[in-house]
Amino acid sequence: MTIALCTKRLWLEPVDPVRDAGDLHNALTDPDVVRFWGAPSRDLGHTVERLRAMRDGNDYWVLRESPDSPAAGFVGLMRGGGLDWLLVRRVWGRGFGTEAVGAVIEHGFRHLGLSRVEARVDRDNGRSLALARRVGLTERPGSGTRVVLVRSRAAKTGTDSRRRTMIVRC
Ligand SMILES: CC(C)(COP(=O)(O)OP(=O)(O)OC[C@H]1O[C@@H](n2cnc3c(N)ncnc32)[C@H](O)[C@@H]1OP(=O)(O)O)[C@@H](O)C(=O)NCCC(=O)NCCS
Repeated sequence: MTIALCTKRLWLEPVDPVRDAGDLHNALTDPDVVRFWGAPSRDLGHTVERLRAMRDGNDYWVLRESPDSPAAGFVGLMRGGGLDWLLVRRVWGRGFGTEAVGAVIEHGFRHLGLSRVEARVDRDNGRSLALARRVGLTERPGSGTRVVLVRSRAAKTGTDSRRRTMIVRC
């Protein structure tokens, strides 16, 4: 069962496909937002189905600035430690992705027993590569179109205060 998490500025709630599709639909139909994530949704029903399929067997959270505010994106954590993320464009550039993904990683290490998390990011997806590095993932050698970045539970997170994400169960 996916549990709700809170960070300094965000509420992370388990994805509810029917409730959240409307908030996320614009982002999932924006070719620039989904360029490295997948094809744009065909219609609202397709967005609902995608959210349903994503959380099937995985932990997926929507993030909100307050309990009443619209979903501003999502973060996913697969059972094997794979990460996924996407934010609606209006909140880019505020550090929400770093904060939310950092919280999900900490949750995975502390409460889900994961020893390693991983992201596979397109080499041209500069914003996602930067986010991955901010949350302590490091690139594994390789030359494919996708960069594999990993972080192990034991890895030091450095002194950057933005990486020391506080989470509480809420
Ligand atoms: C990937 C994505 C989430 C990154 O968004 P982002 O806004 O660049 O990343 P963050 O939310 O971590 O914000 C970081 C930016 O906020 C700034 N910032 C402001 N306050 C901050 C804070 N408290 N903490 C960290 N960064 C902060 C940073 O300086 C950085 O700015 P910059 O972009 O000018 O360098 C977003 O581009 C996206 O949704 N892309 C489409 C989906 C996608 O490609 N998913 C990948 C699948 S692998």
